[in-house]
Formats: sequence, structure tokens, C-alpha cells
Amino acid sequence: MAALDAVLTRIDSNLDQALDRLFALIAIPSISTDPTYAADCRRAAEWLVGELQSLGFDTALRPTEGHPMVVAKARTGRQGAPHLLFYGHYDVQPPDPLDLWETPPFAPRMADMPTGKQIIGRGVADDKGQLMTFVEACRAYKETAGALPCDVTILLEGEEESGSASLPAFLAANRDELAADLVLVCDTGMWDRETPAITTMLRGLVLEEVVIHAADRDLHSGMFGGAAVNPIHVLAKIIADLHDETHRITLPGFYDGVAELPPEIAEQWRHLPQEGHDFLGDVGLSEPAGEKGRSLQEMLWARPTCDVNGIIGGYTGKGSKTVLPAQASAKFSFRLVGQQDPEKIAASFRSFVHARLPADCHVEFISHGASPAHQLPFSSEALTRAVAALRAEWNTEPVLAGCGGSIPIVGAFKQDLGMDALMIGFGLDDDRIHSPNEKYELSSFHKGARSWARVLAALAG
Ligand code: BES
Ligand code: ZN
Repeated sequence: MAALDAVLTRIDSNLDQALDRLFALIAIPSISTDPTYAADCRRAAEWLVGELQSLGFDTALRPTEGHPMVVAKARTGRQGAPHLLFYGHYDVQPPDPLDLWETPPFAPRMADMPTGKQIIGRGVADDKGQLMTFVEACRAYKETAGALPCDVTILLEGEEESGSASLPAFLAANRDELAADLVLVCDTGMWDRETPAITTMLRGLVLEEVVIHAADRDLHSGMFGGAAVNPIHVLAKIIADLHDETHRITLPGFYDGVAELPPEIAEQWRHLPQEGHDFLGDVGLSEPAGEKGRSLQEMLWARPTCDVNGIIGGYTGKGSKTVLPAQASAKFSFRLVGQQDPEKIAASFRSFVHARLPADCHVEFISHGASPAHQLPFSSEALTRAVAALRAEWNTEPVLAGCGGSIPIVGAFKQDLGMDALMIGFGLDDDRIHSPNEKYELSSFHKGARSWARVLAALAG
């Protein structure tokens, strides 16, 4: 206990230097999806290597076909110490649209708001500020106790925001090195600014692009209209057929593996503190649009979805043009829960589309990834210990939450290496991740590091 107190005090007294380090990382524009920034992604990885090396981690920059991985190891030498794999990502989303940023996205700054101080910059909440909460907790242990209480391997990737393309092969090739008792992830959110959360349910994700081809060229809609098939209409009908009038998804077998919530979790979710929460109102909406008879929290955390994220076809320029397009395309995303099988859902979707293709149309499918959901068993010992650690830091009961978003590799940790993930993040719903003026609360950063120090102590036993 004395050791933990010293670690916490160290985090408090080191906050200014910790912020300097975080600002240096944010200033590197590590945008993974845009090849123009490949050297910056590498620079961010190298910066992290230097940081972890200076903390005494056995650290290496590991090349992949895409952006490099950072792997860093610290061992206690203590028999029976739990081995934890901390996962985070150093890549960020593109900052566009740039003109909506009040200050440049990669020139981090501190803003004084009525609710407290905020750090502003692209990637600060997703995921640089979050991953640095863990690194700063490790630093405080190293600088006070001289060692961490658990064996820790840190794995930081640079492609999460573009689908983690290189990570599955990297995991497969380095199983023995990366296998641990438990994965820790800091890439999710709190319930609200006073209430921490442990994400026990993370949704999976299937991304499918569909291109429907009809005539071999664009046609005059007067000369051919009425006789020639219109691929936009075909696509629109497919999209409309995907939900029934109760907003359930109609794909055959789609709900296989979707379980009802355990009653005690449903009960906890019904009683979440609601003060200051207007989830839809905050974005100009009022009515939940998901499945009839489900609560908002269920829709977001415990039910699967099917969404169209983009649709293209025909003439979209200024004015009008009387044209029957030769093709139409759309991008679909399915968020998965429970035991839903991503491969089966992709296959069911493809046959659903095929079954609705009229004569003279053919379809092309492009997969952009498929990852399963993750569920941490509610009976997990690590979960019980983490709850106690967070309760001690925040003086309130942590929420066992779901996460509507996805972290594609978490499913692979479970499927390929048999590891569960304990996901504790300090983001807030209004952090504007993936949006202009992304921010992270100073209290998230500071108490996040303190929380990890406590969680590490709790997991060490
Ligand atoms: N950190 C997010 C996941 C997240 C989203 C956590 C919302 C909490 C709230 C993660 O980096 C992310 O954005 N994932 C993408 C995955 C996609 C780009 C393959 C997502 O969920 O869309
Ligand atoms: Zn993230």
C-alpha cells in the first residue's frame, strides 16, 4: 500500500512533464490511412520506442508490411506474477475537415473550460492520451518502486484507424512472445466525467462494399427509361429490405449468437446516473431509431446493427442530368455482439444481395474487414479486482458498460491467443473523436494514469 501511495504521489507531481511528453506525441501527425504520412507514423513509433526504452523496457520497433509495431517488455522476475499485454494504437484519424478546427490539429494546446481543463489535438482521446495514461503509470512505478508489480508487455500498433491490416499476421507470427494472461486496453470511455467504466462488451464489425452493375454504359433516361434496369433502384430496394418495420435486421441467421442481457446487468443499465445525460439531444436528435422495445443503452451496447455509411451512383453534380447510371455502390457496416460469426454474416449478406438482383445486373463485393465482438465474462477475477481499484480512485461504483464502437484486434486476441480483454478507458462522449477539435479532459489523463497504477496493483494481488 505504501508503494502504491508513492506511485500515486509521483503521478501527481509529474503531471506537467507528463503533459509535455503527451504534447510531443500529439504533434506527430501519424495518420495511418494516408500514405503521405507513413514517415510520420514511423516517427510516432520511434518516439514511443525511445520513451519506453528510457523507462527500462526491453523495447523494439518491429516492421510490418504496413506501419511498424512497438513491442516493449518489463519483467518483475517474481514467480507467479501475472503477465499483462497492454494494447493501444499510435495512429490517428485524418483531421479533415481542417477549416472546422479552431487551432491546428497537430499543435496541441490546453483550454480552460468551465468543466475543467481540456487538451485539444487530433488523436488526444483516440488513442494517444489514453495510451499515455498507462505509460505514465508504468513510469511512476519504475521511478518509485524500481519495477512494475506485474509482468507487462506493451504492444502499440499504427493501423487501428485503418482496420489493423498487419496485426493478425503479426500476432500469429509472434504468439509465444505476445501470449499473456490478460489483455489491457485503454481505448474506450467512461460513463460520465465522474463515473468510470469497464467495457465488458465490445461490438465487432463487418465492413462490406457493394457495387451493382447494370448496362455497359450510362444511358439517356428518356430514350431508355422504363425499359432499362436502374442499379440505384436495385440498391435502394436492397437497403430498404435489410430492416423490417420494427427495425430488426432481416438477414437470415443474423441474430444467431445474440443473447439477451443477464438480468443483473440490464438492471444496472436501467439505473445508470442520468444527470447531464442527453445522448441524442446533444447531437440534435430525439427518438432512438433502433429495434422497437429495446432501451437506448441496449441499442448501443448489446444489439447488432446494419448501417449504410455511404452511397454513390449516377449524376451528383450541380443542376440536373437525365441519366440512367451504369452502376451504383454503397458501403455497409454491421456492428456485431455476443457470438455472432462475422464470416457467416458477410456470407448471409452477400446471398441476400444476390437473391435480389434482377436480370442483367451483376454485383461485385469488396470486404474491408470482419472482426467478432468481445465479451469479458462477468465472473472474471480480473474484473472484480479492477472494479475495486477504480472505485478507490473515483469514489463511486464503476459502470460495467458496453462499447458501441469496435477495436478490431480485440476479437483476434481472444480467438487466436485465448486472451480476454479488460478495457478501461477515460474518454467522454463529447471528446469529438474522429471529429474536428478532438479533446481529452486533463482529469481523464491525470486520473487515468492514477487508475492504471491502482489496477496494476490490484491485478498483482
Ligand atoms: N477508440 C475507437 C473505438 C471506440 C469508439 C471506443 C467509440 C469508444 C467509443 C477506435 O479507435 C475506433 O474508432 N474504431 C473504429 C474501427 C474501424 C476504423 C475499423 C470504429 O469503431 O469504427
Ligand atoms: Zn481508438
